[in-house]
Amino acid sequence: MYRTHTCGELRISNAGQSVTLAGWVQRVRKMGSLNFIDLRDRYGITQLVADENESKEINDLVSTLGREYVIQATGIVTERQSKNNKIETGEIEIKLTGLKVLNKAVTPPFTIEENTDGGEDIRAQYRYLDLRRAPLKRALELRHRMAHEVRNYLSDIGFMEIETPYLIKSTPEGARDFVVPSRMNPGEFYALPQSPQTFKQLLMVAGYDRYFQIVRCFRDEDLRADRQPEFTQIDCEMSFVEREDVLNTFEGLAKALFKNVLGKEFTEPFPRMPYKDAMEYYGSDKPDIRFGMKMNTITDMVKGRGFAVLDDAEYVGAIVVPGCAGYTRKQLDELTEWVKRPQVGAKGLIYIKYNAEGIKSSIDKFYSADDLKAICEKIGAAEGDLVLVLSGAKRKMQTALGTLRLEMGSRLGLRDNSVYAPLWVYDFPLLEWDDETERFYAMHHPFTAPKPEDLDKFYSNKKEDLEQVNANAYDFVLNGTEVGGGSIRIHDSKVQERMFEVLGFSKEDAEYRFGFIINAFKYGAPPHGGIAFGFDRFCSLFGGQETIRDYIAFPKNNTGRDVMLDAPSRIDVAQMDELFIKSTAPEQE
Ligand code: AMO
Repeated sequence: MYRTHTCGELRISNAGQSVTLAGWVQRVRKMGSLNFIDLRDRYGITQLVADENESKEINDLVSTLGREYVIQATGIVTERQSKNNKIETGEIEIKLTGLKVLNKAVTPPFTIEENTDGGEDIRAQYRYLDLRRAPLKRALELRHRMAHEVRNYLSDIGFMEIETPYLIKSTPEGARDFVVPSRMNPGEFYALPQSPQTFKQLLMVAGYDRYFQIVRCFRDEDLRADRQPEFTQIDCEMSFVEREDVLNTFEGLAKALFKNVLGKEFTEPFPRMPYKDAMEYYGSDKPDIRFGMKMNTITDMVKGRGFAVLDDAEYVGAIVVPGCAGYTRKQLDELTEWVKRPQVGAKGLIYIKYNAEGIKSSIDKFYSADDLKAICEKIGAAEGDLVLVLSGAKRKMQTALGTLRLEMGSRLGLRDNSVYAPLWVYDFPLLEWDDETERFYAMHHPFTAPKPEDLDKFYSNKKEDLEQVNANAYDFVLNGTEVGGGSIRIHDSKVQERMFEVLGFSKEDAEYRFGFIINAFKYGAPPHGGIAFGFDRFCSLFGGQETIRDYIAFPKNNTGRDVMLDAPSRIDVAQMDELFIKSTAPEQE
């Protein structure tokens, strides 16, 4: 037997017992005649102690130990003289009676401690060593607990977990597909699924009316802190449901996760907000409602004073930043530069400082103090507040003001990661026009149903009408991050055909790409709808982090590489020949 206990298990109540532990040497310290070893495994750290005056043999062996050696230690559990209340085993130590080196280790390239000295690249290259560190261990433990809760909760209410294939047909809508060449079908390719969307709908046609799957998805898209090329969804679908049924079911799941994983109880229903309001008041389809600072449309209020920047603007919006009227010239200049960054995209920033001594603003020339006071009061500013104004094209400036709102929220410390503000956003537009390709794209995906009251417009051939069609779609937003998205689906093959027509597919093309699902709908498709949660995002937010990388055991870096495996990599010519493919990459010719 390698061990009787783990390194996180022994307490003062075990004092006097003879135990055997196995694990990794975190550190060896010498103090007089005593040698201390911190022994670590997945469960914690236990201190071992060897006294030179008691066993020369053990102490000689201790002096050969290096960091990360794998050892087996036998000894007696003893109360410690100087207790360490930072660790759970901190009241005891093991007085060694036996020691065995199970495996040596070369010195790791960074320290394996709570805070390491290793940079991101080196840690990624030695991910298996980084994974020994407590912060990553905690992240993966949280992920495991979440997955376990999800499976229990959904199974208990009748959902079945069903696996769907990874080698499927390429349907380039949304992100780019990763493709896999087929040796047995020369010149043909599978695609890896961006999500199991069509399969879960086919499962509804097949009668499995409550499906879920914790499933890997693959998308060849630009990466960000909350995006990986392969990521995991909690994918769900239900039959004979309307939007409210879906939202209530999955609000139940989210509440159970909050309660059982984080110990946070939500007794009230999660707030719900139409997409239109989200854009108007938060400049985002995923509002962070941990704080107020709502946006105000003041376009009409500011017109007619001869200031062209505001007179000619399609949109003028303002936020009230509480308590910041004391901002200095320098701070305001810095903020102006900040909003001019391409990521924000404003041309300039107008400010109004609403001070007890009077009002000061960057537009004093055009607006009297009374004018400015009236504007401030209309949008709820109080003495001591700073009003920030952006103007320009509506959608662009709403988004820019939304970004500025988030920045001010962060600067004022209003975005505390231990506070959770869930929100449903619903009634998204069905379609988005793309000027470059001159066609509509589905804002969610092509299987999302238009709202019944918008069907007339859906069958219109006018761009203005189609732009106004709302989708029966919804997102689950947590602290300003889109964690889940779903919709009620089209279940009528005629409506589905019309959708493909609106998206610019010819009848033949739609048939070639999506014939299987249009066809399936002819065999008795029930009304259905569902949702998928980004599992990695859910976990990282529960862990209080914005980046999902630490919640994935073996993630890719921000250029999509696995630096540990050095993947992607070239394959040799023989393998390419077997797959009937030839590379046109310049360096491979
Ligand atoms: P959607 O594309 O909105 O919907 O994806 C659902 C959720 O998956 C997460 N997500 C990602 N997480 C990490 N890295 C990525 N690259 C990434 N892309 C998406 C997000 C998102 O909210 N089939 C539909 C769902 C449905 O309609 O039921 C779908 O995939 O958190």
